[in-house]
Amino acid sequence: MPDLAFGVDIGGSAIKAGLVERSSGALRTEFARLATPMPSTPAAIIDAVGTLLDLHEVSRILPVGISIPAPVVHGVVPYMANLDQAWVGTDVPTLVQERLGRPAVVVNDADAAALGEVAFGAAKGVAGTVIVTTLGTGIGSGIVVDGKLVPNVELGHLEIDGQDAESRASARQKDLEGLSWTRWASRLQRYYLYVERLFSPDLFVVGGAISEDAAHFLPLLNLRTPIVPAALRNRAGVVGAAQAAWTSSWSRPF
Ligand code: BGC
Repeated sequence: MPDLAFGVDIGGSAIKAGLVERSSGALRTEFARLATPMPSTPAAIIDAVGTLLDLHEVSRILPVGISIPAPVVHGVVPYMANLDQAWVGTDVPTLVQERLGRPAVVVNDADAAALGEVAFGAAKGVAGTVIVTTLGTGIGSGIVVDGKLVPNVELGHLEIDGQDAESRASARQKDLEGLSWTRWASRLQRYYLYVERLFSPDLFVVGGAISEDAAHFLPLLNLRTPIVPAALRNRAGVVGAAQAAWTSSWSRPF
């Protein structure tokens, strides 16, 4: 198994990527970032991934892991909240093979973040149930039980305040409504309290770019469950996508 993999994290506003070292989870190259193409169709985005692979001169023998902001069931996207609707029904590994001429393992973005945090970050060695949430364009969730991921859990679409949780409490919503940290945290409080009641986890890990500012909002939350920022910060998706490429048993092998 190669000691390097290329991880790609596709988000609603940016596509991030890097060559990741298996032993440490460290990035071997500078963290690359492209704006998400608009319209954000599968073809346009996979072509942008091709640009990133070319920029990094990624060898054909290296595994590639790609995370996307939607569930991925045996390679296929059942629904898509925050990118073009053309993703629905797309078999992503097949599309990557067709457009880029190479295989890739494709996983949900929050599952990737959870894999990264388990292997190298805040969830490493934690027994019991860890819920990794990502606060970004949407709200992503990955559940890990004794180090093993339960894939495609969609807790961002639970209902709070009578609405889809991510349309109240995502980081994008904070920006859109110009919410102060305090007002946003009161929405997060209702959200995490609800998730806590449903799952009684041992740990919450909070990822997404806004986790860099965790000091502004995590101390405002009042939960039984410890809640910590993702140790890999906004690299969790890239590192986790690479981790999925090395370890995936539910996606197609490379
Ligand atoms: C999607 C999830 C994704 C999350 C974060 C949600 O809208 O349904 O699959 O993990 O956004 O991108």
